[in-house]
Amino acid sequence: MNTERDDALMKKLDEIETTADVEIPTDPLDRVIGQEEAIALTLIAAKQRRHLLLVGPPGTGKSMIAQALALHMERPIEEIRVVHNPENPQRPQVEVKSMEEVLREREGLESAEGELIDPKEAPIHIAEKLGYKCVNCGTYSSPTETFCPRCGTPKASGNTMGESPFGDISGFLEMISSRPPRKRVTTTRKRLGKEEVVVFERAGEMIKVLDQKALEKRRELEKVSPRKVIVPLERRPFVLATGASETELLGDVRHDPYGGHEQLGSQPYERVVAGAIHEAHEGVLFIDEIPHIGHLQRFILTAMQEKKFPISGRNPQSAGASVRVDAVPCDFIFVGACNIQDLEHILSPLRSRISGSGYEVLMETTMPDTEENRMKMMQFIAQEIQKDGRIPHATRGAVQNIIDIAGKRAKEIDNADNALTLRLRGLGGLIRAAGDIAVWNEDPLIDEKHIEQALKRSRSVESQIIEKYGTYQKGISRDISQAQREQSPYYYWNENRGSDEPGYM
Ligand SMILES: Nc1ncnc2c1ncn2[C@@H]1O[C@H](COP(=O)(O)OP(=O)(O)O)[C@@H](O)[C@H]1O
Ligand SMILES: [Mg+2]
Repeated sequence: MNTERDDALMKKLDEIETTADVEIPTDPLDRVIGQEEAIALTLIAAKQRRHLLLVGPPGTGKSMIAQALALHMERPIEEIRVVHNPENPQRPQVEVKSMEEVLREREGLESAEGELIDPKEAPIHIAEKLGYKCVNCGTYSSPTETFCPRCGTPKASGNTMGESPFGDISGFLEMISSRPPRKRVTTTRKRLGKEEVVVFERAGEMIKVLDQKALEKRRELEKVSPRKVIVPLERRPFVLATGASETELLGDVRHDPYGGHEQLGSQPYERVVAGAIHEAHEGVLFIDEIPHIGHLQRFILTAMQEKKFPISGRNPQSAGASVRVDAVPCDFIFVGACNIQDLEHILSPLRSRISGSGYEVLMETTMPDTEENRMKMMQFIAQEIQKDGRIPHATRGAVQNIIDIAGKRAKEIDNADNALTLRLRGLGGLIRAAGDIAVWNEDPLIDEKHIEQALKRSRSVESQIIEKYGTYQKGISRDISQAQREQSPYYYWNENRGSDEPGYM
């Protein structure tokens, strides 16, 4: 596991001057501190493609773990496309291409693009016909210039000016009647004893040469049906779908005001959009606060079971409603997160699916106050400073101070003795507030006094309420009616907590 790797890197608190001396692990999973069980299961989930349910209070590392999991997975090797169906345009077909196929196709495309050469390397008559070379004086110039920049005559035709009995006028006529240089010249050439067709095309300042092979490739590419890539090969393996709407989660077929009219409108396949479940194919679909997506949980369950989910127009008023693509792959690892009190709002078949082919993990809220864990806390402080990027490093004294606060919080919030809190988002906020004070005072480092000041400033509203009203409960009961309290999803949770606690954190 990762702890062995860490140990070599870790410095003791008295070995550092400031957090600049602390080594930060490169693996994002090694940056998650105090959640050993969750990390072990995350590594297994990545390797064996298992689902995860992370349960615990905010700010303990659930999102961090979900993202790190995605980075521990193999990179995606499939691309998903929808293909025009000429028999029935309302039923575009799905096409899954492997990485090898995609790469081969790209190579093919490149070869069909032909070879670019300098006009001076092209046969002279080709350079003249395409408008790169002046037929009168032989000077090369851009084909966008109709007149030779050197001799001033039209490049494409023989110069008769001066010799003509009509003088200038003839030149003028010549100019307006001369055929403009051609964009494309087809000719033949001998190669390896065989006559073959070659096409020379204008391509800006260069000339493009298409040999027999490239021309065949072009014809082939023109034959294949039109398609749209909806999930590209190169994509992030982590898709966040917290609070997603139905169309965001499941995909959609966009409306077309012309209703897919052949000439005016766009073809149905062009309007197909993948949902988060499809974008997460071969990666991680992460949904924080699962209960918030309500009835959509049912669709996630189906997607997890089938590993395929159709994309259809989800607005019945839209022209997209009659379009459907069947069996679009969506083979993702599901990572869900929620608070303990929301657990009962998760659809039970979804939970049994997760536990059936994955793991449910309760996040730690504290860790024992040991030498090793103090070093981890120091690593956390260094990480937060690095991540913020706008605050200075902290002195050893400040680190010590923060560790003491972590100890106090473990006792206050979770009633744990000889422990350090793992409700780290809050602690991160304290570090940033202290950093802001240091910056404001133009101090080069965060020290103890900045931490003290920040502590006063960054108190949660709950602890401010306690100070003002005596207890947290008294505070709320002054503010809201009983009916309102019972409607709150946190009512029973908060009600069951000791009144001296700083409430919902
Ligand atoms: N276990 C942890 N190890 C290191 N940093 C943490 C940890 N938990 C939280 N943090 C810090 O708090 C921030 C918020 O954590 P996050 O993963 O979003 O928590 P959650 O998803 O549980 O609410 C992180 O970006 C990180 O800075
Ligand atoms: Mg989170």
